[in-house]
Amino acid sequence: MITGIEDPLAADVVAGLWADPPTLPTKWLYDERGSRLFDEITRLPEYYPTRRETEILEARSAEIAAVTEASTMVELGSGTSTKTRLLLSAFAERADHEGRTFRYVPLDVSTETLESSAATLRVDFPGIDIVPVAGDFTSADLIVPPSSGPRVAVFLGGTIGNFDDEARAAFLHTIAGALDPGDYFLLGADLIKDTGRLVAAYNDKAGVTADFNRNMIEVLRTGLDTRGLYADDFDHVARWNPKRHRIEMWLRARRDVVVDIPILDRRWELAAGTEVLTEISTKFDRATLADELATAGLDVTHTWTDDAGDFLLTLARR
Ligand code: SAH
Ligand code: AVI
Repeated sequence: MITGIEDPLAADVVAGLWADPPTLPTKWLYDERGSRLFDEITRLPEYYPTRRETEILEARSAEIAAVTEASTMVELGSGTSTKTRLLLSAFAERADHEGRTFRYVPLDVSTETLESSAATLRVDFPGIDIVPVAGDFTSADLIVPPSSGPRVAVFLGGTIGNFDDEARAAFLHTIAGALDPGDYFLLGADLIKDTGRLVAAYNDKAGVTADFNRNMIEVLRTGLDTRGLYADDFDHVARWNPKRHRIEMWLRARRDVVVDIPILDRRWELAAGTEVLTEISTKFDRATLADELATAGLDVTHTWTDDAGDFLLTLARR
């Protein structure tokens, strides 16, 4: 955040929009509407990661509960916690059998989604202590609450891919620092595959991902009370960057855009055709990911993929 600007959105805008290329942090995609659109994305025919990770969790949740013996699970970027229900069932069953309580701590920036998911989970899992935390998982003072037994931090969906290389290393380092020796980290990561399938997953026919991307403009327009900024002036662009093995989502100006931001006393000008980077989604190979985890002090104990080999779930021990 830029010093002197208290509003985090305004600080990110000042730091990002005048950069080359203009860049906005991905987390601003997830206001209430953005979270709803992401939920829709997870059900699109082209968007395979959610289905593949669900398949792995269906097969492996009981094993994960048995191996980790965790009494607390912290989930970073929990969203609707839909897939997490598979883990919660497995952990709840074990805890119930052993006569102890299991605690679930979902953490997310999207407070509306966090609260509504926690309310539904409390009804569906009355035996689990559910403690939602509104927060930013990139925060260097990330806390995994103390627990009487082992803890597991989970990071699902391939969200690890939304960091660039430097931020990913910093994040893994923070996670390792927040865990004690013997705690676990469960990580979902999307694997490198056929470029056509990857691009289609971020360029769906129904245009939901385009709406999700353009929603970033709405977040800026409403959050900063801008003049001259309209979502319809931008095209959604998603392309594969082979060098950095990642999908990049951009917003390309359809015309010359001139935006006044009175609260910042600034004008932002963007020439037609210029692009703003809104999200990267890095895809991995197993060996690199295991090396990165080890560098952070997290040793891989188990890896699982779905039948098609599209997605990887890794369990690592601190
Ligand atoms: N884990 C879910 C949701 C993934 S979408 C799944 O696997 O389907 C990414 C989630 O991370 C969203 O819920 C979003 O609100 C949240 N998120 C994005 N950036 C964040 C940040 N910096 N801190 C905390 N949560 C964040
Ligand atoms: C949350 N994250 C893992 C998603 C992804 O695939 O990178 C976000 C997303 N962006 C477009 N579609 C989905």
